[in-house]
Amino acid sequence: MDSNREHFGSRMAAVLALAGSAVGLGNIWRFPYMVGEYGGAIFLIFYLIFTFFLSLPVFYAEAIIGKKGRKGAFGSFSALAPGTNWKLVGVLCIVSCFIITSYYSVVGGWATDYLARSVATGFESLSQSTATSLFSKVSSSVWEPIISHTVFLGLAAIIIKFGIKNGIEKFTKITMPILFVLMILIMFFSLSLDGAKEGVKYMLRPDFSKFSAKTLAFALGQSFFSLSLGMGTVLTYASYMRDEDSIASAGLYTSIFDFSFALISAFVVIPAVFAAGLEPGAGPSLVFESLPYIFSEMGQTSPVLSRCVTIFFFLSVFFAAITSLISMFEVCTAHLVEDRKISRTKASLIIFFSCWLLGILCSLSFGVLEDIKLFGYTIFSLFDTLASNYLMTLGALLFVLFVGWKMDRESAIDQFSMRKSKKREKTFPYFYFVIKYVAPVVIIAIFLSNFIK
Ligand code: TRP
Repeated sequence: MDSNREHFGSRMAAVLALAGSAVGLGNIWRFPYMVGEYGGAIFLIFYLIFTFFLSLPVFYAEAIIGKKGRKGAFGSFSALAPGTNWKLVGVLCIVSCFIITSYYSVVGGWATDYLARSVATGFESLSQSTATSLFSKVSSSVWEPIISHTVFLGLAAIIIKFGIKNGIEKFTKITMPILFVLMILIMFFSLSLDGAKEGVKYMLRPDFSKFSAKTLAFALGQSFFSLSLGMGTVLTYASYMRDEDSIASAGLYTSIFDFSFALISAFVVIPAVFAAGLEPGAGPSLVFESLPYIFSEMGQTSPVLSRCVTIFFFLSVFFAAITSLISMFEVCTAHLVEDRKISRTKASLIIFFSCWLLGILCSLSFGVLEDIKLFGYTIFSLFDTLASNYLMTLGALLFVLFVGWKMDRESAIDQFSMRKSKKREKTFPYFYFVIKYVAPVVIIAIFLSNFIK
């Protein structure tokens, strides 16, 4: 291990940072909706199986590359396969993270805006319809979302500037436990609402009529997205782990954390949507329309409780989003710092400004630029579709091919196992088999499913 390179102080710190990346808007606004829409309990079971039997091996492949390469995405591929085109996979990761950072920050900005509103005025004095329609007013206006996007992305840039130990590690160590506790509290609150039972039923009832091959593709795609696979984040964070910290256990804990958080979020969001008598749908409306409705309704009888839950909830969304944002930001930063020898401060500024500009276009595509369409998508949805449907799967495919077919098995097993104890190695042959044979086939299948109408 390069002693000059920064690293996480402990395995726990690495797990919290990885979990911070994994737990994000994907858990809060995509997962709950998908469960209900694609077959309830059946979707859940497939999601569980895919997470641990397919996504986890892909996670390991990505982490093995970073831990062995000891550099960011571009640097690791250049170091492990010098003189080949594999470094282009690093370029792909940087481009994907660049795109996702730009639009993710806009959504994080809305969360920041709503957090500020809950502290300043809350939703208890708004009528239910004002609380619900506030979102389209905010997101389609020009300045308000740009300001909050600036604040949100700026905060991420500041954390990144402080580096791995003093920035990312310190921040995720504080926020992740708080996030978990807050969400559990809100879950109990949400489950106690009138009408929550309907929501639980919607999620847990196995509905075979909604089950199709597409369900499988969505369950796997969602599990990849949720673990932040295929974009070099896991690779980059793993490159900051100490030699003695095992990626085998870090990966397992991160998946357990992410899975539990997805379930908790579903039990927060869906019961609230049903209690509000609204239709569950994917996307921002779930978080920024349905929950404010509940908060305003509750405000009529217990304004103080309403205010507290509102603040807790948007603080959770804010934490979940910013810990994911810094992980994408870091993929781009690592490249500028390590391969282009730019100082960390300058690198964070460069990425901040470029993602800020792209983010503004994404933000305006909910308002004044709404009619600008490329391939039938608005700028925001084009970025989202490109990153989460195409670039992510392509990246994941190239990672498993690299570890399964290019890297030698000994290096892979070496990285996978703990340095000091050989206990965990027994599971390696299974993961290796999945990485080498099963994952490439399945990922190509999900990729092709994007083209099925
Ligand atoms: N996992 C994040 C979430 O659930 C989203 C995400 C997808 C992501 N790909 C990523 C985050 C790459 C960081 C880096 O919201």
